[in-house]
Amino acid sequence: MPIQILPTRLANQIAAGEVVERPASVVKELVENSLDSGATSIEIDIEKGGHKRILIRDNGSGIPHDELALALSRHATSKIAKLDDLEAICSLGFRGEALASISSVARLSLSSKPKEQTQAWQAHCEGRDMQVQLNPVAHPDGTSVDVVDLFFNTPARRKFLRTEKTEFTHIDEVVRRIALSRFDVSFSLKHNGKLLRKYPAVKAQGTELKRLGAICGKEFAEQSIELNSQYQQFELKGWLAQPEQAKTQGDFQYFYVNGRMMRDKLINHAVRQAFEGLIAADLYPAYVLYLTLEPNQVDVNVHPAKHEVRFHQARLVHDFIYRALTDSLNQYFQQGQQQQTPEVNVLPQAEPNHDYIQPLQRPISEPRVDEGLASYSGARTQSSGYSGTLVNKGVAEHLVNSSQVINQSSKNYQQLMTPTQPTNSAPSSTEQSNMMLGQWLQVTDKEILLKVEQTFYLLETSALHLSVMSRLYSDAMPVSQPLLMPVSITATADLLAQAKALYQPLLENSVEIGWTPNRIILRKVPAGLRQLRWIECLENILGCLEIETDKVRKHLLTCIVSSEEMSVLQIQELWQQFVGSSVNLKHDITQIGKPVHLDDWLNAYE
Ligand SMILES: Nc1ncnc2c1ncn2[C@@H]1O[C@H](COP(=O)(O)OP(=O)(O)OP(=O)(O)O)[C@@H](O)[C@H]1O
Ligand SMILES: [Mg+2]
Repeated sequence: MPIQILPTRLANQIAAGEVVERPASVVKELVENSLDSGATSIEIDIEKGGHKRILIRDNGSGIPHDELALALSRHATSKIAKLDDLEAICSLGFRGEALASISSVARLSLSSKPKEQTQAWQAHCEGRDMQVQLNPVAHPDGTSVDVVDLFFNTPARRKFLRTEKTEFTHIDEVVRRIALSRFDVSFSLKHNGKLLRKYPAVKAQGTELKRLGAICGKEFAEQSIELNSQYQQFELKGWLAQPEQAKTQGDFQYFYVNGRMMRDKLINHAVRQAFEGLIAADLYPAYVLYLTLEPNQVDVNVHPAKHEVRFHQARLVHDFIYRALTDSLNQYFQQGQQQQTPEVNVLPQAEPNHDYIQPLQRPISEPRVDEGLASYSGARTQSSGYSGTLVNKGVAEHLVNSSQVINQSSKNYQQLMTPTQPTNSAPSSTEQSNMMLGQWLQVTDKEILLKVEQTFYLLETSALHLSVMSRLYSDAMPVSQPLLMPVSITATADLLAQAKALYQPLLENSVEIGWTPNRIILRKVPAGLRQLRWIECLENILGCLEIETDKVRKHLLTCIVSSEEMSVLQIQELWQQFVGSSVNLKHDITQIGKPVHLDDWLNAYE
C-alpha cells in the first residue's frame, strides 16, 4: 500500500481512541470546556447512559461565529498559542483535541452565542473531511454541545460500551469529581429526563460542607478532618476521613492538582505513607484534597488523557503532602477526635526534615549523617564524622564473635600485661592517648577492661555507647526520617497519656509519634537510626517522666543504647570515637568506668 494521508475523519477517529473511551469521557471533556469558558452553571442531560445522547449546556463565554468551525478542528484551541504556554497551563484543556475527536465518533452539534453577538450559531461536521456546516439557531448566551449516537460509525468501539446503568454510573462519578473541583459552579445532572443530581453553587464561604455532604455523604462532611496547610508556594486543603473510616476500596480518593483531578503514584504514596500504621494494609484512606502550586511547577502535558502530572520538585511535593497530612492526623488525635477546623497550618520555612529532601540538597561528595550512623550500626559504608575507621582490621576481624572474645580473655590478659605486644593497637590519631593509658581489652560484648596508669577500670560498653552518643548529640538529634515501615504498639490509657505529653518534646528530638485510640505509632526517627529495633524501645521511650527537650533527649539516647546489641567491631569503633572526642581521656574514663582489682575480676570469670 502506498503511503497516503489519512482522511481527516479517520485521523480524528484514531486520535479519539485516547480521548473518548466511553460516554463518561465525553462528559468530562465537555464539562471541562464549559468550566474553561467561565461558566457558572452547567446542565448535563443524558439519555440511555450516554449511548443515545449527551447534551451539555453552559452559560460561559461562548464561541464567536467565526471560530465555531475551528473549534471542531483538531489542534485548534484558544487556550495556548506558543510552546511557552505549555509550561504554565491554567486551563483544563490545551490540546485542541476533544471536540474534533468526539465529533469524529458521534453526531455532534455545537451551538453557541457570546453575549456580544446577537445571533447564535450552530456547527456540525459532515463527511470524510469533516466539513463544518454553520446554521443560525436560537440559543441563550453560552454554549451547548449535543452528542448523539456515540460510536455509531465505529462499531468496534461501540461493542465495548456497557449497559446503560453502568455507563451512567461512570458519568455520575465524573460529575461528582468535577463538582468537587468547583464549588462556585452549579451543576445539574439528568438521566432519561429525570433530574438526579443538583449541586447548587456554593456562594457563601463556610458553606462548602453542604456540597461536600451532597457529593460525599453527610457522614463524611460531618466527621472528616479538615486540613489547610501551606509551605512556600504550596497549599494543600481539603478533608480526610478519620482513619477509623478507611474504606475497603480505593474509590473515595479525590485529589486535585490546580483544580484538575489526578490519580498519581507520587501522591498516592505520600498519602499512604501518612496513613501508615493508622489503617490496616488492606484498607484505603478516604479524602478530598486540593493541592495548589504555581502552574509552572507542574507539567500536565505528560498523559494523553491528562490523568497524570509531573511535578518539577517531585520530592518536595511528596514531602509536603506527607507532612501536611501527618500534621493534621496528629492534631486530630491530639484534640480527642473531635471534629475540628484547624487554623491554616503554615509549615515552617526551614526545609522539612525528611530524607526525601535531604539527599537532593547535599553535594554528592559530602557524607550524610545517616550514612555515618548506618556504618556504625553495622551496615559498613564509607567512614564519616561518627563512624570512625577501623585501624586494626586484622585484630578486629578475628574478634568478631563475642564468645570468641570471652574465650580469649585470659590469653589476652597476658598480652595486656605486656605493653610491647598490644592486643589491639591504637588508631594512629589516638596513639598518644592510648599510650598514656596503656591498653584496653574487650572482655565481653558488655565490658571493656582498661588499664589507666596503674589502675584497671571496667567499662560497660553501654556506658561507652551512651557517652559517645551524648557527646555527639549534646545539642540536638539529627534530622528526622520517616521509618520505611512505621511501627506501632497497643495503646493503654497510660501510654496514650504519655504519648500526648511527650509528643512535642519527642518531635523536638526528631522523633515523631501519632496515635489512635488503640495504637501508638512511631513514624519518624532521627536520621541514621532507622534500622534500630524501634518496636522494642517505643514503650521505654514513652516511659520518660520528663518533658523538657534536653531531658527527653537523654532518656531517648538511653533507650536507644539499651535496645542495641553491639558487635565487637562496633564497640571498637565506639572506643575510637570516645578517645577521639575526649579532651581529658583519663578523666572521662574514670567518669564512666569503675576501678577493679584485677585478681578479683579474674576470679569472677573462672
Ligand atoms: N463550552 C465552551 N465554551 C466556550 N468555548 C468552547 C467551549 N467548548 C469548546 N470551546 C472552544 O473550542 C476550543 C476547542 O475545544 P476542545 O475541547 O476541542 O480543545 P481544548 O479544550 O482547547 O483542548 P483539549 O483537547 O485539551 O480539551 C476550545 O479551545 C475553546 O476555545
Ligand atoms: Mg477541551
